[in-house]
Amino acid sequence: MGSRFDEMRIFSGNGNPDLTRLICERVGVPQGDATIVRFSNENIFVRLNESVREKDVFVVQSLSTPNLSDRVMELLIMLDACRRASAGRVTAVIPYFAYGRTDKKDQPRVPITARLLADMIQAAGAHQVLTIDLHAGQIQGFFNIPTDELTAMHLLVRYWADKGWDDMIVVSPDVGFAKRGRNFAEALGAPLAISEKRRVQHFGRHDGSHTSAEILNLIGDVAGKRCIVVDDEIATGGSILEVVQLLEREGAREIYACCVHPVFTASAVQRLSNSGIQELVTTDTLPLPPDKRWPSLTILSVSHLIAEVIQRIHSGVSVDTIFTQRNHPALGR
Ligand code: R5P
Repeated sequence: MGSRFDEMRIFSGNGNPDLTRLICERVGVPQGDATIVRFSNENIFVRLNESVREKDVFVVQSLSTPNLSDRVMELLIMLDACRRASAGRVTAVIPYFAYGRTDKKDQPRVPITARLLADMIQAAGAHQVLTIDLHAGQIQGFFNIPTDELTAMHLLVRYWADKGWDDMIVVSPDVGFAKRGRNFAEALGAPLAISEKRRVQHFGRHDGSHTSAEILNLIGDVAGKRCIVVDDEIATGGSILEVVQLLEREGAREIYACCVHPVFTASAVQRLSNSGIQELVTTDTLPLPPDKRWPSLTILSVSHLIAEVIQRIHSGVSVDTIFTQRNHPALGR
């Protein structure tokens, strides 16, 4: 199918420039020329150094740390620049959507920042959004513009499937991830175990006092098995390392882990690299500079997937068939 736009342009914010470079290589277009400046007063300024009039424009910006707020502002300002330069259509490509954990009002007087961010992206001029594995599916509904949420889980499944192991068990680190864990296990043809956090109350016998503590409980049998713990993101590493300790206690033979988004904050790298995880597999939705890498970390690229989807969006072709054909090249590394 032909495109209703003669040309496309792909611009990059500073959120993950290496990923944008790979996407442009795979699409076969030069990266759009833009200048992004942060002045001494911390104001960010963007200039597109080429015309985008009536073009199909993709702005790639992962909402990464450090300087997350700058990354958010860069994205908004780039979208505004595209709109004011009469772009024909503007797609915000956000490989990692931050604030995904602030997606509901679960305490009094708290914000829903994921919704606020979605509103700002639309107000800035995005006509549509392309993102990968949102922390919670309901965030899709925070946008009133077309939103394609891709998944990198197929990439991860294929990686483990290629190992050819017959004693794998997939482990969901919490009940909230159990459904996605179930899909992952099914795709891999492996059983599923679920780690579950429970609050246990202890009542004092004589004084009526009570204390409570959280304990992790495992649903499933991992003894003697190769465990693959799967999660959407790892930030501090706290959640996954608790699960690793539980699996060690339960007699797992070997423990592996994977996640789509390597947020890796604070001391995560040091803790993860010194843990009982034999290999951690992730993707490049977020930048991984040398100080966030270690020998048993494997990084799969989502650039093939994003490049294929950008081409399909540009040409008005369905993206669905990428995911229904398990061996589609866009789901490879
Ligand atoms: C929780 O709901 C998520 O799926 C992850 O488990 C969580 O975001 C990881 O955070 P951290 O690594 O800081 O425990």
